[in-house]
Amino acid sequence: MSTVLAVATGTGNSLFAADRIKHDHLYFAEDLINGKDHLPDDMDRLGIIFPVYCGGILNAVLRFIEEVLSDRDNSGLGYIFAIATNGGLPLNALSDLDRTLQDHGLALSYGKAVRMPDAYLPLQKKAVSKEKAEEIARKADEKLKAIAEDTDAEKIELPGKGFLYRTVRRFSRLASSPRPNEKLRIDPAKCIRCKTCVRICPEGNIREEDGRIIIGNSCISCFACYHRCPEGAMTYPGAAGQYEGLVETSRLIRR
Ligand SMILES: Cc1cc2nc3c(=O)[nH]c(=O)nc-3n(C[C@H](O)[C@H](O)[C@H](O)COP(=O)(O)O)c2cc1C
Repeated sequence: MSTVLAVATGTGNSLFAADRIKHDHLYFAEDLINGKDHLPDDMDRLGIIFPVYCGGILNAVLRFIEEVLSDRDNSGLGYIFAIATNGGLPLNALSDLDRTLQDHGLALSYGKAVRMPDAYLPLQKKAVSKEKAEEIARKADEKLKAIAEDTDAEKIELPGKGFLYRTVRRFSRLASSPRPNEKLRIDPAKCIRCKTCVRICPEGNIREEDGRIIIGNSCISCFACYHRCPEGAMTYPGAAGQYEGLVETSRLIRR
């Protein structure tokens, strides 16, 4: 019998949330998708902890459900809960997750949205200040304490159906799928090729080639690379300042 947390995260907020929930195993969704980690056979409780992207679930969560979860015997899985970290507009993310699970013969038993600092550069060009981030994190912590108690007690609390569900779902799937991000660049004068970005990119979209760091074509615009670069060597038009984040950069390294 074990409680597993499957975590998707760009800038680490969802990992901060996961840290506050009692569990036996914690895996990154991408490591499960890539077969670098495996769900244990005795998993009877599963928590899916993820950031809201464009009002819905991000690609890694979708692939986790479609390629990992639906590919195993889930008869022993009695309780699935979810935490959707977000910047204040969770929209349909939890109902999207629930319906996606239902498409695969599963269902959410409990889901809660928790507001976290938002570091999405196209909308938040100025970095969230340390003080503001700490204030939001304090409130999130309170909410997460209650969620931890609820999920420990296997409380049932289903998300609402979601406003204009089908339209929003279509939009969010399209908008949050990996694609080239031509505006995100590396300043070669600042880059020291430490490969932090290579190691933490959740999509494995950054690589080193012939001594140069190259950004590939499947970016999910989480901007973890931008915010966590120790040299501030990533650039994005109009963006200034990095979001320090709530967990250590070393914890974002994928396997
Ligand atoms: C591509 C992208 C899309 C986002 N879309 C939304 C959104 O629709 N609603 C919202 O409230 N927050 C949105 N956010 C903010 C994140 O959900 C929020 O900051 C989250 O806590 C990030 O979690 P992470 O650090 O685990 O990646 C978005 C962030 C990104 C990077």
